[in-house]
Amino acid sequence: MHPITITNISVFLTAPDGQNLVVVKVDTSQLGLFGLGCATLAYRAFAVKHVIENSLAPLLLGRDTAQTEELWRLMHYNAYWRSGPVINNAISGVDMALWDIKAKRAGMPLYDLLGGKCRTRVTAYLHCNDTSQEAILEQARQAVANGCRCVRAGFSNFDGPGGNGGYLCLGQTGRTYDPQRYCKQILSLMTALREMLGDDVGLITDVHERLDPPDVIRLARNLEELNLFFLEDPLPPEQMDWFERLRQKTVMPLAMGESFTHMEQAAQLIEKRRVDYIRCHLSSIGGLTPARKLGVLGECFGVKTAWHGSLDMSPIALASAVHLDYALPNFGIQEYYGYGEQTALVFPGTPACRDGALWLNEAPGHGVDFNEREAQRYPPKEDVTYWTEMRTPDGALHAP
Ligand code: GCO
Ligand code: MG
Repeated sequence: MHPITITNISVFLTAPDGQNLVVVKVDTSQLGLFGLGCATLAYRAFAVKHVIENSLAPLLLGRDTAQTEELWRLMHYNAYWRSGPVINNAISGVDMALWDIKAKRAGMPLYDLLGGKCRTRVTAYLHCNDTSQEAILEQARQAVANGCRCVRAGFSNFDGPGGNGGYLCLGQTGRTYDPQRYCKQILSLMTALREMLGDDVGLITDVHERLDPPDVIRLARNLEELNLFFLEDPLPPEQMDWFERLRQKTVMPLAMGESFTHMEQAAQLIEKRRVDYIRCHLSSIGGLTPARKLGVLGECFGVKTAWHGSLDMSPIALASAVHLDYALPNFGIQEYYGYGEQTALVFPGTPACRDGALWLNEAPGHGVDFNEREAQRYPPKEDVTYWTEMRTPDGALHAP
């Protein structure tokens, strides 16, 4: 096949719904053919942009767009020291765009290139977060009435009901987190949800890697009889060996991975069968190329996928995850928050949520476009990140 080469790489920062998003556009030597990728590391967006513009773009100009594997390796080894969230997000922006180009060139939706559909729907878990148990139960009741089959529930401020509230990721400064109180409140919330929703709705809660290992073990055991779909991110990436003990102590299905910053972290959990679901943030591990490999590895070891689907990733990354979800036999479930209207206008083709599932538009490529003019209306935030300054009641700094 005659090579179509990279002629330009540009990076756009935009915050249509308040979260910084990083979009990469790769132009090619074929008139009108371009690809779009997601490089969103929300809290270090400008660093990622710098790496792409100053290191990756000059390295890649003139290279063959078809060589996704070769170019991923070229980018991976280029700084000599490898991986980490800044480098891997930068790589991801280019990598997803190259897959987009490949699929557009083939005239296929991406999932067809990845092996074709293994299912007719991609079931999602939807979020019910609020400050009081009553409000969360009401949200869940409505979500299920609208077709949702799996609910992820939690207190939007882990300090619990009566706290200062707000979206988990964008909370105010100076928040404290009381692990013991949290465990009690989650047990009460999940028990009430199971009672209200019956046995047919999947239930999930996110520990957000905030508990000490012995507390996680106790919580998992206490929740066992509620038959959760899974317990999400129970341990921090620094404590992966505790998974062995957690596994021995509980029958709770376990999901892990949004904070991983290279695929080997996930691969180690998969090959030891220490989790049931792997749920990396696609761009933080370097994009579609490594995510596809992890998916296949998971199939070999009986581990399913549940890719991260937060608001600090663009609809391009979400769509890429949904293409994988269709094509991987071992798909488990897809996380979904729901973007605001402004994000959907900046990204025409954003996957739609209906009947508790995510739907693609079936266009060649990943199907998500980027409206540059609309994006300019929402300049990126340059503020310092404060929400990650989480503290326990005695004032000690705690992992976010
Ligand atoms: C999730 C997450 C997110 C993160 C966010 C950090 O499970 O979806 O925990 O909501 O908090 O991605 O910015
Ligand atoms: Mg999480």
